Amino acid sequence: MLLRKITTLVATAALSTLLVTGSALAGGPVVLKFSHVVAENTPKGQMANKFKDLVAERLAGKVTVEVFPNSQLFGDNKVLEAMLLGDVQMGAPALSKFSRYTKKLQIFDLPFLFKDMSVVEKFQKSPKGLELLDSLKKKGLVGLGYLHNGMKQLSSSKPLRVPADAKGLKFRIMSSDVLAAQFKAVNATPLKKPFSEVFTLLQTKAIDGQENTWSNIYSKKFFEVQPYITESNHGVLDYMVVTSKEFWMSLDKDVQVELKKALDEAIAYGNQIAAQKALDDRQKIIDSKRSEIIQLSDAQRNQWVEAMKPVWEEFEKQIGKDMIDAAYQANM
Ligand code: SIN
Repeated sequence: MLLRKITTLVATAALSTLLVTGSALAGGPVVLKFSHVVAENTPKGQMANKFKDLVAERLAGKVTVEVFPNSQLFGDNKVLEAMLLGDVQMGAPALSKFSRYTKKLQIFDLPFLFKDMSVVEKFQKSPKGLELLDSLKKKGLVGLGYLHNGMKQLSSSKPLRVPADAKGLKFRIMSSDVLAAQFKAVNATPLKKPFSEVFTLLQTKAIDGQENTWSNIYSKKFFEVQPYITESNHGVLDYMVVTSKEFWMSLDKDVQVELKKALDEAIAYGNQIAAQKALDDRQKIIDSKRSEIIQLSDAQRNQWVEAMKPVWEEFEKQIGKDMIDAAYQANM
């Protein structure tokens, strides 16, 4: 009788040890896949890698970050869908790529709204800017922070000095109706295409031009297949780092806090890189002599401003006048 009791106790102890070990092995660290479309030597690429390193340092054994650059895992059109399905946990799409989820972020696409990146930064940190981080909540996405890339320039197969020069040309745009309206306003044809296809479209002359930042034009070699770049600074290309509400809420509170801290540091690092790259990559393109950089006179620039200005009114209802006014005021 006693022997049977002892055998049962030993067997129970062995089983519980096995179960505990088994569940620890099956659990393992949380894997956080970060998917993006740009090269590693860009502000977003560097920010994502920094985030991965900080998490490896501070949350070893609890969270592992895996970064997938260059649309390796998901391209523009799929990443948010994939996030909601749990196939990827984090990304930082351009603010122009959220319009299926909210119309509010279209504000960042309005042409000539922000004078420079310091104004973009000021607006993003204002109450209205912070409010926009929550604009995806209802769709199951959590906005964790903004990340800069920079001001956009116009590259083309023809010199663009005044709006009339763009007439009839085909421009690749991100999936944004505001950007479509912006090019229609100068009688050009906008084509919504994924970032991964832009180089080939330019190289094969399927399109005439595109708009992008110095770092994207350089890192994706658009300047090698575009003889002219107009330094227009007409718009901004920034990102929102997002995750799914389901994933974020599944994390332990202490892990969530550490991840957010690491992300904020990685974003600050990425923003420094963005500012430096806007200068360095511009210079590298000039040095390459592959593209001519066109500077606009004040009168020429005013023509672009005037031609594109009606776009603000067109989207005022969707974005909100109060929001546009707040962003405009950030220039003062
Ligand atoms: C990006 O910087 O993430 C891509 C921008 C673009 O699609 O032009």
